Amino acid sequence: MESQLPALNEHDFQIISHLMADISGIRMAAHKRALAAGRLMKRLRALQLDNFSDYVALLQNPQQQEERRIAVDLLTTNETFFFREKPHFDLLQKLLQQHPRRSLRIWSAACSSGEEVYSLAMTLAEGLESGTHWEIVGSDLCRQALDKARQAVYPLQRTENIPPEWLNRYCLKGVQSMQGMFRIRKDLCQHARFLCLNLNDALPESLGSFDIIFLRNMLIYFDQKAKQQILQRVLKQLKSGGLLFVGHSEGLHGTDLPLTTYAAAVYRKTP
Ligand SMILES: C[S@@+](CC[C@H](N)C(=O)[O-])C[C@H]1O[C@@H](n2cnc3c(N)ncnc32)[C@H](O)[C@@H]1O
Repeated sequence: MESQLPALNEHDFQIISHLMADISGIRMAAHKRALAAGRLMKRLRALQLDNFSDYVALLQNPQQQEERRIAVDLLTTNETFFFREKPHFDLLQKLLQQHPRRSLRIWSAACSSGEEVYSLAMTLAEGLESGTHWEIVGSDLCRQALDKARQAVYPLQRTENIPPEWLNRYCLKGVQSMQGMFRIRKDLCQHARFLCLNLNDALPESLGSFDIIFLRNMLIYFDQKAKQQILQRVLKQLKSGGLLFVGHSEGLHGTDLPLTTYAAAVYRKTP
């Protein structure tokens, strides 16, 4: 017998949607109701609840802060892949050739499960001279995605955009219990660090400043006001003259920021 999915009614969806906006800054449009129901379903099952109203009551309990974080984790869209929007990595490679440097810090500010961080790491390992000090900080709000990023283990199908030579140099094919998977080599991972950061909140001072920030395919989920606030917060961490990379569909039109266009979806911070 097919199991019947409980319905998420408009009232309960509004409560979930407000919770999501309060914590992450993301406003879920009305047409996202079915999507939200699908994503939260496994949590209802795990808690053995058979309707959304009981789950919403739980989320509204002031003592259930952890449950609210779990719900936000489930509601975030974590889609990502290696070398997504390849021209950005080509540009970075060119910059490394043209401007050799002794140290480099990059922040992947909504890194999801880490593919962007390791694509950057491979690009830097190839392009920087040995002896250069470099670090990539990956951060995200979603703790489940960060766990995957730290593990640095992915299904083999995810290798498709990794240049074959780099795949040989920086990745290891899984055997036995890891059949069908691959992992990023430890010497590359040691340049990456992952933090749970909510860009909708104040950022820790210890984050430091960066030469380059990747903030890609995250701003699309925010309204203009939230987008401006997030960009202001993120840009404080970018060195003067540093570069901000955003997703190719995420123009910064209508924002008032100290940036000039450098290349497609790349901006330079003005002094
Ligand atoms: C679609 S993924 C983009 C991943 C990667 N940057 C890329 O371009 O492939 C968007 C990420 O933004 C994260 N995110 C959403 N709201 C956030 C917030 N307020 N603070 C930090 N990360 C957030 C999500 O958890 C998700 O992993």
